[in-house]
Amino acid sequence: MAHKKIFTEALEDVYSDRLKRKDGFVEVPTSIFIEKVDVYAPDLPNIDFYILKENKFEILKSAQESYSPLVLSMHDYIWIKEEYIEHVRSHVEGIILKPNTAENALPSNKRMEILRRSAIKVVENLFEKLSPEKINKSIKVVKSFVFLIMKDPKAYLLLTRLSSHDPYTLQHSVGTAINAIILGKKLKIEKETELNDLGLAGLLHDIGKVRVKKEIINKSGPLTEEEWEEIKKHSRDGYEIVKDNSRINFKTKRAILEHHESKNGTGYPQGLKTDQIDLYSKIVSICDIFNAITSDRSYAKAKPIYDAFEFMKNNLEHKIDMEIFKELVLIYGGKI
Ligand SMILES: [Fe+2]
Ligand SMILES: [Fe+2]
Repeated sequence: MAHKKIFTEALEDVYSDRLKRKDGFVEVPTSIFIEKVDVYAPDLPNIDFYILKENKFEILKSAQESYSPLVLSMHDYIWIKEEYIEHVRSHVEGIILKPNTAENALPSNKRMEILRRSAIKVVENLFEKLSPEKINKSIKVVKSFVFLIMKDPKAYLLLTRLSSHDPYTLQHSVGTAINAIILGKKLKIEKETELNDLGLAGLLHDIGKVRVKKEIINKSGPLTEEEWEEIKKHSRDGYEIVKDNSRINFKTKRAILEHHESKNGTGYPQGLKTDQIDLYSKIVSICDIFNAITSDRSYAKAKPIYDAFEFMKNNLEHKIDMEIFKELVLIYGGKI
């Protein structure tokens, strides 16, 4: 028997859809309904709850019946019909995303952390096995970040402070997405749809790495010439992966393709010069490098934020757009 999920973990699992399924039913941790139910969740979904007994689904509570936290608390998990999963998801989204002014509400930093952890879970899934459905989940996660950043002026500060010990690619994708959204907003990209496109570019920029051999990605020593060539294919591969997806904006696809281009034309895969590189690509490129330098990687220790800025300023002028870079430094309260 699975153990009882703690509240925040349960929220993450539902939000990132890490739920068990069986015969048209989905298993849901009860903690999302009963823990602090009076504080966070005034609008519990009215749906049938089932329990699984000797391989048969038995009704525990019908949609019309009222909730009894006591009855629910006797079960770690309940089952609901697949078609009602959206009700449960929006219940969870309400808890995570709705700014709550009540004194004992889930605090902003907690909500942000849940969202970031959920994003990691979605991306983890994405890199395991890619599917259109998982891309849709990524789109949803990015939208939630944009939503939070638009609605809560303090959100971006909190998000920039989140650190993590998750596997590099996952942490890197989510970190790059968050920074890209924040930097985009600072550069006066105000439309939510545009910030969504930009955030998705950050989240998916390295998606082509699913086609690079794991041994090369995780290698801790220096790479051989051939291995580098192999790695470099990931931007074009990433573009190939998303290019026919009609839900993804062309600018997002371009950023995936162009995130390793350099201002002076020495980048890859196309060797574009600065005026040929799209704005979104430039933003993602800067956030990508910044996130990489400030994270532990298989071959290098993380640099503190301001050292990373120093390094980028002194060594990457040929590569990145300095006007955009300055705005990133300002976001973090640095001096140029
Ligand atoms: Fe990359
Ligand atoms: Fe990257």
